[in-house]
Amino acid sequence: MSKDCAALPEGGSVVRHRLEAGEIDWEIAPGRKVRGYGFNGRVPGPVLEAKQGVPLEIEFTNRLPEPTVIHWHGLRIPAAMDGTEVVQRLIQPGETFTYRFTPPDAGTFWYHPHHNETEQLEKGLYGALIVRAADELALDGEKILVFDDLRIDKSGQIAKFGGLKDRHNGREGNVRLINGTSEPEFAIAAGQIERWRIVNASSARYVRLSLGGRPFQIVGTDGGLIEAPVTVEEVLLPAADRVELAVGPFEKEGEVLSIEDLPYNRMAGKKGVERFGTIRIAPRKASTARVPSRLREIAPLVTGTSSVTRTVKLGFKMSLRRGFDFVVNNERHHHDKPVKVGEVQVWDVVNTTLMDHPFHLHGFFFQVLEINGKKPAWRSLEDVINVPPKGTVRIAWYPDDRPGMWMYHCHILDHHAAGMMAHFEVVGERDEEHGHGQGNNQSVAAPVSHAAACGTTPVHRGHTFPRRRRGE
Ligand code: C2O
Ligand code: CU
Repeated sequence: MSKDCAALPEGGSVVRHRLEAGEIDWEIAPGRKVRGYGFNGRVPGPVLEAKQGVPLEIEFTNRLPEPTVIHWHGLRIPAAMDGTEVVQRLIQPGETFTYRFTPPDAGTFWYHPHHNETEQLEKGLYGALIVRAADELALDGEKILVFDDLRIDKSGQIAKFGGLKDRHNGREGNVRLINGTSEPEFAIAAGQIERWRIVNASSARYVRLSLGGRPFQIVGTDGGLIEAPVTVEEVLLPAADRVELAVGPFEKEGEVLSIEDLPYNRMAGKKGVERFGTIRIAPRKASTARVPSRLREIAPLVTGTSSVTRTVKLGFKMSLRRGFDFVVNNERHHHDKPVKVGEVQVWDVVNTTLMDHPFHLHGFFFQVLEINGKKPAWRSLEDVINVPPKGTVRIAWYPDDRPGMWMYHCHILDHHAAGMMAHFEVVGERDEEHGHGQGNNQSVAAPVSHAAACGTTPVHRGHTFPRRRRGE
């Protein structure tokens, strides 16, 4: 971070953070540096701590040699703050933009650029954002593990971008990282249970996570806690997915377990067992952790048989100009029909291709009703779900009163870039009355100059959202 910007003052009821994106020397292993991008000089960027229901302000400055925009992945915030090129102007080099929103849900989220993502994320622009509840589930300790893979070439630098193979399969790396470091070691005391928050920030890789084959409990997913812990020996994280785990207790002090990615065939090249890091069982400590048998209630959005309100087809198409495209409903960068506030959505997300795609909906959680006609074993709130080859995932979601332009897309970054995405508008009743169902120019928020945000003008005291002006 540059020194000309002092730390932001602690606001009474506003949590403030400052982020700066820039070029960095990223030390992926001791003595091994690659030229990349980072937030506040590091990869991942700082863990942004937020409180459920408390306004959050993030003053972002772009020190990159290219424009960008920052998306708050999974957060149910107003459309104008979603940080996509659709709801705001790109933040140019040297510009500052302050994001202001109040996170409504506790959970494990993340942030990343939403412009030239295939390069900006791979180069290191991503970080975790943790929203804490007033009554957090506190175990003996907590760790945040952000998984990523990186492709390094013979010269030891980030391999160049492009090529039809990556465009087709998505870019996977030959170096596996947790928290920006190649195969790090984590310690956990024998006898203790910790809450581990896991984010898969990879461009394309699916992580089929195993902790030395030992059982662990899933306690949360994208949208926070699930209803009851589920004991498993592995969990699949498609690109962009999150889980929260209760890890431990382990008994044998000194034992070392591998944090592994088990083989998973997403029909884009097979891999074997690959190690991401290790766990060392440290000397025993007393435990006060208790994982409750009920974590919370999630009311079902749809009961009984659901009638589908929309079908979203994820597809692949040959193209004379580009070789091939990834599409939604046969169209690159599809413009989907609007959705009305208050009308429960039941969508069939149909994968017409022969490979997996992680479907991501911006700004709203969904419940998974069925995967290939089968009800999932437990209920959760999600913003990313894997849609298997030739498979159908039925989801339900509720458009609460946050009108504006939203989107959904495949979170394999190359597929998103190749067109497997769609925009759609959420329209409120008022929009309809006044015939403002189209466009969203009212909520375009403009970046301010770095100088203006760095002392020459006072930081906003209150917390205000850019309002949609209506009837103009
Ligand atoms: Cu993390 Cu549009 O996505
Ligand atoms: Cu895809």
